[in-house]
Formats: sequence, structure tokens, C-alpha cells
Amino acid sequence: MKSIVVTGAAQGVGLTTATLLAQRGYCVTMIDLKPLEEQVDRLRATGAQVDGMSGDVSSEPFVQQLAEWISRKRGGADGLVNNAGISLIAPAEETTAAQWQRVMNINLFGPFLLCRYLGAQMLARRQGSIVNVASVAGLAAVSHRSAYNSSKHGLIGLTKTLAAEWGGRGVRVNAVCPGWIKTEMDVADQGSGAYSDADIVNRVPMARFARPQDVAETIAFLLDADQSGFINGVSLPVDGGWIADASWDSLRIRTRS
Ligand SMILES: NC(=O)c1ccc[n+]([C@@H]2O[C@H](COP(=O)([O-])OP(=O)(O)OC[C@H]3O[C@@H](n4cnc5c(N)ncnc54)[C@H](O)[C@@H]3O)[C@@H](O)[C@H]2O)c1
Repeated sequence: MKSIVVTGAAQGVGLTTATLLAQRGYCVTMIDLKPLEEQVDRLRATGAQVDGMSGDVSSEPFVQQLAEWISRKRGGADGLVNNAGISLIAPAEETTAAQWQRVMNINLFGPFLLCRYLGAQMLARRQGSIVNVASVAGLAAVSHRSAYNSSKHGLIGLTKTLAAEWGGRGVRVNAVCPGWIKTEMDVADQGSGAYSDADIVNRVPMARFARPQDVAETIAFLLDADQSGFINGVSLPVDGGWIADASWDSLRIRTRS
């Protein structure tokens, strides 16, 4: 049975992805800062093979400990989903150095550490698939998110670099770039008054938010070598056409009638 590590798995996209992968017969290790007992128990009750480990993806000692554990218990990881991430909405000129550093640590340095330690195990066995969860904000700029946008652009840069470096040794590295999704992250961001549902729906040709399931299905596709075995280094939008569409809002809305 293939062993996959999913970070940020306590809720939102990470939990939906871990659940889908467990249903598809993968052995899933769920990672989060938050406790995971409830989620793990619920999945185990369905017969799924899941484990949970609480820790910070930006802590090198934690990631080392995770890699040793996976190596001992599962003979190494076959796949990795770097999904844990945080948002930060602030004008660039008001973003503090500490805020910037925190976003970079969790959204970019953490995925690097996981790729570094779990990727080394995959390289040793000359097979594996890594999916990094970036964002449309990794492909284009959304104002008031200088640290977040930069971290996601950086994550796409890391994805391409590792795809180039590791593809020849059997390890594929890709990214997904979701549009806005209704998760706890969105609730918190909308709670700050930064945007409304209508702002997002009006911006998307397909006139809706992304669903966690849309993203999870795309991740599962990229993990599965039978379906995506020659796909390496892509940053795939899961955004209902957001990035493709340069129309102004009133024109986009007119196309719907
Ligand atoms: N929600 C959106 O609109 C949206 C859009 C595009 C991309 N994304 C990206 O998708 C991913 C998942 O987002 P979500 O909406 O499910 O967010 P979420 O806030 O609902 O869940 C993120 C999870 O990551 C965990 N986490 C945060 N920091 C961590 C750390 N240092 N170590 C371990 N776990 C940590 C949190 O505890 C939480 O359980 C993120 O990378 C986010 O940037 C989200």
C-alpha cells in the first residue's frame, strides 16, 4: 500500500485530501499543528489506514523526526502533499518583518524541508510524487498579500526546480493553484472585511468558489503515476478559469446571460 504524507490535514483542503486518499486505498499520514485524534479516529472507523502527527512543518527537528518515523514504519514515503499554509492580508508598506518571515517559514521553508527529507527517501527508491498546494496568488498578484503571493510564487519556483532536479530519478514534483475556497481560511479572511463572496464569484468565469473536493481530486490525479506519470513541473490552476480570464468584471458578468 502506498504511503502519503498530507500536511495541514486537520481541516479544509488538507482534511478533504487525506480523506479522499484514504478512501482510494492509500496509507495516509496526516500532519498539522492542531490535534488530529478526532479526524484520525473518524477515518480509522471506516477501515482506512491513517496516522496523525502534530507538529510544525517549518521546524527542521519535527520534519526530521517525521521522516525517520515514516522510514521505520512504512519504509519511506511514496507521496507528499505540501498543503499546510497561512494567509496574511496587509498592505505591503504595513507588513512587518516578523509577519513576512512567518508566512515564508510556513508556506515556503516548510515545504522545502518536507521535500528535502521525504524527497530524499523517494530518490533512494527512484519513485515518488510530490504535490505542492500553491494558489492563483502564486501565478498572479492579488493586492495586499505581498508575503502570501511571494511565498506561493516561491513555492512554484521550488516545484519547477525539484521537477528539473529529480524527474530523471523517478520523482515527479507538481503544484496545484486553487482559486478561492470556502474553508476556515476564507472565513477568517472575509471576517477581516477584505472581500465578499460576490467579489470572488464575479471574478471567476465559472461563477463559484473552488470546492475542497475539486482540489483534492486534482491532487489525487497528480499523485497517481498511472494517470499523470509523465506530468512533472506543472502548476495546475484549479480555479474555474480565473487565471485565464483577463476580462473586466462587467464584461465577464455579461457573458453569463
Ligand atoms: N482557502 C483558499 O481560498 C485557498 C486558495 C488557494 C490556496 N489555498 C492554499 O490551500 C492550502 C490549504 O488551505 P485551507 O483553505 O484548507 O486552509 P485552512 O486554514 O483551513 O487549513 C490550513 C491547515 O494548515 C495547518 N497549519 C498552519 N500552519 C501550520 C504549520 N506551521 N505546521 C503544520 N500545519 C499548519 C492549520 O492548522 C490548518 O489545519 C494552503 O496552503 C492555502 O494557502 C487556499
